Amino acid sequence: MKILIVGYGRMGREVEQVLVRRGHEIVGRVDEKPGVGDAPRPSPEMLKNADAAIEFSLPEGVEGNAAVYAAAGLSAVVGTTGWKDAEPRVRALVEKSGIGFVTGSNFSIGAHIFFALVGEAARLIDPFEDYDALLMEIHHNQKKDSPSGTALTAAERVLAGLSRKKRIATERLDRRIAPDELHVVSARVGTVPGTHTLLVDSAADSIEVVHTARSRSGFALGAVLAAEWIAGKKGFYDVRDFIADKFSKGS
Ligand SMILES: NC(=O)c1ccc[n+]([C@@H]2O[C@H](COP(=O)([O-])OP(=O)(O)OC[C@H]3O[C@@H](n4cnc5c(N)ncnc54)[C@H](O)[C@@H]3O)[C@@H](O)[C@H]2O)c1
Repeated sequence: MKILIVGYGRMGREVEQVLVRRGHEIVGRVDEKPGVGDAPRPSPEMLKNADAAIEFSLPEGVEGNAAVYAAAGLSAVVGTTGWKDAEPRVRALVEKSGIGFVTGSNFSIGAHIFFALVGEAARLIDPFEDYDALLMEIHHNQKKDSPSGTALTAAERVLAGLSRKKRIATERLDRRIAPDELHVVSARVGTVPGTHTLLVDSAADSIEVVHTARSRSGFALGAVLAAEWIAGKKGFYDVRDFIADKFSKGS
């Protein structure tokens, strides 16, 4: 495919490497920062030649860029996070123009496999009261939020599958944990890109489901696979629609 990269920062460069590895052609690297990439805005030529755009920019740019894709009839994968307020307007633009558009806060295929395994583990231990569950996450010491979004999504999957857990406890506990609370613990150290563990524990044994991110390349691979998937489709999709479609084809 011929791909337009929009936002040539850390993720844009990861996407470029995956595109090259998978034999795609790059028609342009757009970045609003002067001197970064090929151009500050997509040229008519880039828009005409591209089969899809992959965007990892910053939130302020998403709505304007979506209008450009819509006008050019160009489908797009947008990994940029933090533009929830603009989503209804972007959705309307996409639906009116008939382009395909996939977005979501986590394009990592491995993380989605982890979510599915966590949900299944929770469902399997549901009938067995002896088994308790805990979620742990470790990230580098520059991360500003806790728990991570990935840990919260995994926690939602546990709550959905394990009827004796009703709520998440993320704070430090100066008391016994209530049986209906799922403890989600966060630790910060060094440069860890992100490790998430579901620990299932009983008096007899314990089981761990662990997702260990090595780099940002997992997000880039997911975005490129989503661009391959959106070709020929119309409409506004969440990355979960893309993953669910892939999972259903794999089984
Ligand atoms: N969905 C996911 O799986 C996933 C994974 C990682 C990062 N992200 C998100 O992707 C975004 C980018 O992350 P990053 O680490 O590459 O950031 P970054 O700061 O390294 O790169 C962003 C680049 O986008 C450029 N940019 C800003 N506005 C633009 C516009 N209107 N048009 C074109 N370029 C523009 C900036 O100049 C910068 O070079 C963030 O929102 C981040 O949260 C999402």
